[in-house]
Amino acid sequence: MASLIVKNITKSFRIDGIETKAVDDASMEIEKGQFVSIVGHSGSGKTTFLSIIGGILSPNSGSVYVDGQDVYRMNDDGLATYRATKIGYVFQFASLMPMLTSRENLLLPTVFSGLKRDANKRAERYMELVGLKDKLNSYPYQLSGGQQRRVAISRALMNEPELLLADEPTGDLDEQTEAEVMAFFMQVNREMGLTFILVTHNSALADTATRKFRMSNGRLNEV
Ligand SMILES: Nc1ncnc2c1ncn2[C@@H]1O[C@H](COP(=O)(O)OP(=O)(O)O)[C@@H](O)[C@H]1O
Ligand SMILES: [Mg+2]
Repeated sequence: MASLIVKNITKSFRIDGIETKAVDDASMEIEKGQFVSIVGHSGSGKTTFLSIIGGILSPNSGSVYVDGQDVYRMNDDGLATYRATKIGYVFQFASLMPMLTSRENLLLPTVFSGLKRDANKRAERYMELVGLKDKLNSYPYQLSGGQQRRVAISRALMNEPELLLADEPTGDLDEQTEAEVMAFFMQVNREMGLTFILVTHNSALADTATRKFRMSNGRLNEV
């Protein structure tokens, strides 16, 4: 069985009586370890779709199954455990806690997952992988936007997730850092065998994926 099955997901938002269908009957099946990209214009529903897979936004209808488990049939505790143990999330906009150092930001998810064994070692290893070992004790305000982004990527790996969801993770990086970050993603996809879904509007980056989807007005199609 596929490790991620998304079935007929629909999500609408209603503002001032006007309804927007952000995701319109989207489905996909992803095998464990696959590297999948989703491209699409701004406003096409990519972030909404990724949030639904990540267990942070419930759909109006449809289902998400991870390892055979129906995510939106779990109770709140089950859903919290799902987010904490199975999902690594790199958000579209900066998401580091400003009052915590890089190291503390990395350790934070392990508070929720309980995966504290060797957490310090993992933090050091991932920060080294993204080229920021010397920034373990820096606060976000002491880092550039690209460096903060790389800390957020390291943090997404701390709980050794099965599914890594990245929402335009290289959007604010210069070309060289973007290439480094992509190489890092490919490496963890290969070495950790984790399934990787990359949302991007850079079609060259999307082309490096083994499977490519396009989102357009909430509709998802494999291309
Ligand atoms: N929380 C929300 N409340 C109301 N409308 C939203 C919300 N989130 C997204 N939308 C709308 O849903 C559509 C899809 O947005 P989004 O998923 O962010 O697209 P993308 O990530 O592809 O830019 C847009 O029309 C957006 O304005
Ligand atoms: Mg978005």
